Amino acid sequence: MENKANLPASAPLRPGEPGPVEAVPEAKGSAERGPCGTEKEFTGQELAGQVLAGQELAGQELAGQELAGQVLAGQEEAEQGEAYVLACTVNGKPVEIRVPASRRLLQVLRDDLGLTGTKRSCELGRCGACMVLIDGVPINACLTMAYQCEGSSIVTIEGLSEKGPEGAGSLHPVQEAFLEEGGFQCGYCTPGMVLSTVALLENNPRPTREEVEEALSGNLCRCTGYGGIWRAVSRAALRGAGES
Ligand code: FES
Ligand code: FES
Repeated sequence: MENKANLPASAPLRPGEPGPVEAVPEAKGSAERGPCGTEKEFTGQELAGQVLAGQELAGQELAGQELAGQVLAGQEEAEQGEAYVLACTVNGKPVEIRVPASRRLLQVLRDDLGLTGTKRSCELGRCGACMVLIDGVPINACLTMAYQCEGSSIVTIEGLSEKGPEGAGSLHPVQEAFLEEGGFQCGYCTPGMVLSTVALLENNPRPTREEVEEALSGNLCRCTGYGGIWRAVSRAALRGAGES
């Protein structure tokens, strides 16, 4: 029997005989391809979906902004609501200032009194950058409500120089020690570190290394690696910084 499949394509056909079947190239991604540019339609739908999702996200963002605005407005209202006169001493000077009930000591010091040596960082009581002395005790100003300071004596880093050997404008011995031992780099943590050290040495003029670490455990430094800080505290202690 004649093998028609092996006939060359150019071989003459007999009447009624089926012609050679041309190979159809295999369709790539045929499920997504159609006669009417289906692929493009899918892409268009996809894009439309993305646009809709984007609009939804934008809507959520707007709603979030609105909520944030309401919260801020609420805070402002609360701040404006109740106010009273805070009377205390800051760096040895009597201060009387009208403050809203919701105001924190950190805001009063920095924003109302311009004492920006007290640093604002985490505002959660974790870093100690905002440390001040309230009646000699190191306390985070970011966690202290202004009204809690009624009648208190507050010392910030600006007031510490008043206690230097030569009075106002001179450095406190603890500040000198930090300077000499390289106890700081960027300096952002330094006011808090210095004030915590002053409080430590006033209560314990010859602390052990463990006591120093414990006393400064609420002060975080992101730069120095602490070596210079420990040396500075030791130097200040050796010089009797807390024995005035
Ligand atoms: S800003 Fe107050 S503890 Fe960090
Ligand atoms: S010197 Fe930079 S955080 Fe301490």
